[in-house]
Amino acid sequence: MFDDFKKNSHPHAIFEQWYLESQGKGSSSHILDKVKSRLRFLGKQAFTQIVPSLDRMNYNAVVLATASLSGIPASRVVLLKGHSEKGYVFYTNYNSSKAQHLNENPVASLNFFWAYPTRQVRIFGEVKKVSRKTSQEYWASRPRGSQEGAMASEQSHEIQGYDSLKEQLKEVQEKYKGGRPIPCPQNWGGYIVKPKSYEFWQAMPDRLHQRVLFELINKKWVKKYLAP
Ligand SMILES: Cc1cc2nc3c(=O)[nH]c(=O)nc-3n(C[C@H](O)[C@H](O)[C@H](O)COP(=O)(O)O)c2cc1C
Repeated sequence: MFDDFKKNSHPHAIFEQWYLESQGKGSSSHILDKVKSRLRFLGKQAFTQIVPSLDRMNYNAVVLATASLSGIPASRVVLLKGHSEKGYVFYTNYNSSKAQHLNENPVASLNFFWAYPTRQVRIFGEVKKVSRKTSQEYWASRPRGSQEGAMASEQSHEIQGYDSLKEQLKEVQEKYKGGRPIPCPQNWGGYIVKPKSYEFWQAMPDRLHQRVLFELINKKWVKKYLAP
């Protein structure tokens, strides 16, 4: 891993490399292949049960931690839908509990965990809404079923039960029947986490795990090694 840090001066470049490798692409694709071939030895049942789930893993799932202004924390999984040196983008309901936290305390921590190779990336940063145009473009790219579901759900609000959610869905389907385009709701869109620090963690033998912290100080990324 230390080689990765010599090659890449911007921590986002390391994130990109690890992100690819978590999907079995890039230089460590052989590791996922090794895991799969080992599973073959465990027998046909293990192979057929475990390998499809390895392939279906949500590599872009990330734990998003926020806190209320009074310091009450909350975390939940969201899906990463954009990533660049500028920041890390996810989409959600702007009336949800997380949005409430982000309105009053616009900072967040993202925690990526990937099993093969075993790695964690923690990103801390300020959070902003993406432009309405960006949200609309992403909304338009979503499958119709996801659009209907998002429009029907008042995320994080109490509902009578699952049936009432299905009723809401029917109303949306009725309103937009005949394939009419479903517009991006005003209360739905993206957030971007603009990183101020990254911590990369990689499992190593005998608990001698490798940790590297990057902090943005006076617009420059400053690197530190941390004890595991
Ligand atoms: C694999 C997975 C992916 C998810 N992706 C999203 C997502 O991209 N956006 C979202 O708002 N919620 C997503 N959720 C649901 C959230 O974890 C959470 O339940 C929801 O956003 C409400 O959180 P809140 O009440 O803290 O706002 C996902 C959950 C899982 C398990």
